[in-house]
Amino acid sequence: MSTARFRPPLGLGSAAIGPEEEALVLDVLRRGELFRYYGNDPARPPPMVAAVEREAAERFGIPYTLGVTSGTAALEVALAAAGIGPGDEVIIPAWSWISCFTSVVRTGARPVLAEIDASLCLDPEEVARRATPRTRAVLVVHYQGAAADLEPMLHAAHRRGLFVIEDCAEAPGATYRGRPVGSWGDAAIYSFQHNKPITAGEGGLVATRDLRLYERAVRLSDLGQYRPHHAQVTPPREAPFSGGQCRMSELTAAVALAQLRKLDRIRDHCRRLKSRILAQAGNLTGFSWRPLADPAGDFGFELYGYAPSADAAAQLREQLDACGVWCQKRTGTYPQYHREYVKTGLTAHPALSPFRDLSPWPAHGYRAEDFPRTEDLTSRFVALPIGWRFTDDDADHIASSLRDVTTGTSG
Ligand SMILES: Cc1ncc(COP(=O)(O)O)c(C=O)c1O
Repeated sequence: MSTARFRPPLGLGSAAIGPEEEALVLDVLRRGELFRYYGNDPARPPPMVAAVEREAAERFGIPYTLGVTSGTAALEVALAAAGIGPGDEVIIPAWSWISCFTSVVRTGARPVLAEIDASLCLDPEEVARRATPRTRAVLVVHYQGAAADLEPMLHAAHRRGLFVIEDCAEAPGATYRGRPVGSWGDAAIYSFQHNKPITAGEGGLVATRDLRLYERAVRLSDLGQYRPHHAQVTPPREAPFSGGQCRMSELTAAVALAQLRKLDRIRDHCRRLKSRILAQAGNLTGFSWRPLADPAGDFGFELYGYAPSADAAAQLREQLDACGVWCQKRTGTYPQYHREYVKTGLTAHPALSPFRDLSPWPAHGYRAEDFPRTEDLTSRFVALPIGWRFTDDDADHIASSLRDVTTGTSG
């Protein structure tokens, strides 16, 4: 058996690219309209970014969405649109993607790291533990397809007046208690980066039900401007301010739109194979599945389980690999305190660092020893990705390999 049998291509969405993406990209190219705000006909602006925004709003249950260049840009825009800035603190999971940390730093606010729970998402109880009078927001990351426990999280955050941003970059189409993730908090972000369930190579969305936040997000993404397309959504009320530039292009939107329309098919495929693996694997010795806040709402593209120790997890990975089951972590997520930019605490200009008053550095709250639970959980998991091209037979092989390696009958 090939040891590469289950090595999935990076990203689910990229494996599902086909004639639909091709047709929409060709449509943009043939019209020669690559910029969202104007094209050949002054009376008819190009349609692709506007269509992504409209269809994403419907699909994710959030009325106002804005296309931007990446999930990271979406995070920076959402935080700044919410008014987060110097002197503020934002609670983020210690185990999260790089930009969950850097986007907060770039607003001038201080990211406050918090423990995750066994779902590998932010522990809702951490909101009360980490909140200080300077805390302004909580960034909730729905890790690899699965929702964080939103109800207690929102309760803890909103009773303290904290703004909640849902980071849905890794979980578009996942639900919590029957409602899409992203529709629960005060704002949400999405990513179309290559290694995501749906992709356009790069790209992102900011979503909110708050019109003021929407207007500020538009201005932040378009050099402070607020063009007629957006004025039709809601008339301008904010005094113009200097913004950055992270507008989504029509070409990106063409791919993103075709992918968005495939989201449910991709998700249903993953869910079906996930259920098949779980049913066939049954109870496993020395291996427990990641407990989820809402198992029915999981996207299902990556199954996580825990071994009793880091050594046992490493051994399981090796044995599964020998069976042709690829089980290396597919996300680029790390505990933030292990990353270089946290170890230095630096920003491009020293005066911009939200850590400049904390000495010695790394201060308490930015070192591995401050996060025993996150350290323990992330050292013991084994991740089993499910690819778009995986078949029922592949699912059966994963399940039987798991049974074999946990009962010691493999190789
Ligand atoms: C949880 C999370 N947030 C934000 C991002 C940033 O998205 P992008 O890569 O599009 O900037 C990513 C993806 O890489 C992510 O996984």
